Amino acid sequence: MSGLPGSNLVVLVVGKGAREHALAWKLSQIVKHVFVYPGNGGTQKGVANVSNLTERPVNQGSDYEYIARTAKALNVGLAVIGPDDAVVDGIEEHFRHAAIPCFPPSKAAAELEGSKVFAKTFMDKHNIPTAAHRSFSDVEAAIAYVESVNHRIVIKADGLAAGKGVVLPETTTEALAELRGILQDEKFGAAGSSVVIEEYMEGDEISLLTFSDGTTFRSLPSGQDHKRIGEGNTGPNTGGMGVYSPVPFVTRSALDQIDREIIEPTFAGLRAEGRPFVGLLFTGIMITPVGPKVIEYNVRFGDPETQSSMMLLSDDTDLAAVLLSCTTGTLDQVRLDVRPGFACNVVVASGGYPGPYTIGKEIVLKPSPAGVMVFHAGTKRDESDGGLRTAGGRVFSVAAFGTTLREAVDKAYQGVQSVHFDGMIFRKDIAAQGLGNI
Ligand code: AMP
Ligand code: GLY
Repeated sequence: MSGLPGSNLVVLVVGKGAREHALAWKLSQIVKHVFVYPGNGGTQKGVANVSNLTERPVNQGSDYEYIARTAKALNVGLAVIGPDDAVVDGIEEHFRHAAIPCFPPSKAAAELEGSKVFAKTFMDKHNIPTAAHRSFSDVEAAIAYVESVNHRIVIKADGLAAGKGVVLPETTTEALAELRGILQDEKFGAAGSSVVIEEYMEGDEISLLTFSDGTTFRSLPSGQDHKRIGEGNTGPNTGGMGVYSPVPFVTRSALDQIDREIIEPTFAGLRAEGRPFVGLLFTGIMITPVGPKVIEYNVRFGDPETQSSMMLLSDDTDLAAVLLSCTTGTLDQVRLDVRPGFACNVVVASGGYPGPYTIGKEIVLKPSPAGVMVFHAGTKRDESDGGLRTAGGRVFSVAAFGTTLREAVDKAYQGVQSVHFDGMIFRKDIAAQGLGNI
């Protein structure tokens, strides 16, 4: 593979989840070296040209300055950022000042995820279909509005609230209590100084990851996440418990409609507003009876969507070249091929997640079947014995490719059998809808 454009490149991936492990794994097939900051137990050991960077020593400036300075010293030629807060905070500027190509969008374009009020106003302005909505910062006005509508609503804190800023109340009483909690008692801090209240949309939810160089855009196959902790989509929301891709019931014509009515106007609108989007846009879409509508935008790779997407990219797709082409306005010139078939990943979490859970549990990993990747998330190597321990809520994301969806799902669950730690939990019904079981 040495003739491909990314082959001499040193890449930095920022983040510590299974998303970052999956990106590092795919990038490492072609580039010279991938550093991950801060990484996890899976990116620390296992692949020769992937390693973790040590965390910032105290008194070394801000984390972002430190990362950009360290990257420069290591000759990094491409920076890829996982977490939303770093992108929304404008980490891109630090790499730009260090003259290192940085994949995620500018702070201005990242406002699409950083402010729900901005995103909603943007969609209205550019006629992009989304749930009907109103924004409020005054609690009494918000309460009066909720009391006046006769449909189910969703409340969203304006800013980033560590993935917890969306509330789906089932009754008006619950909605009013939530509004007081957010706007009056500041339960989400400054992120909740204003809220968006929108209509609850019925339909099938899908995720679409789209690369953009500002002008050209290219989407990966659609995916479906499973947000709730419990089987049958019950219990509290999580960061995502598993994704399969492509989603068989999303037709070509639905995808064309999504491109025409959502994706194209989004990039055109951002360009027109002087915030061209360079990077990866993750659009959460509800396929409703009256057509697709935007649930939310994220300005970064999805987790666990990315784990499945990486399994679908063809062997000769040079991911680093794709990411670099976005930064140079040449996305129309690179190979970006997807294998025919399906991918599925199942998230293995600590017992108690998304509520309180215990870390530090010993992990036993047995060899996994061929075609299965065990991507690490909350894992850490013990400094004394090098053994693997749990270090977070979502611990692994076990991903597999199959020529049929059934095969991909069965392989992913076989892979889960190779992972063991005390109290581990995972959903048993990932892809049930795609398989036609519900
Ligand atoms: P988020 O944290 O923004 O990903 O939102 C969490 C989840 O809430 C989404 O993935 C949807 O399942 C759900 N959701 C958000 N907005 C709506 C809406 N307007 N109607 C129905 N479900 C929604
Ligand atoms: N899978 C949802 C997210 O990445 O936000």
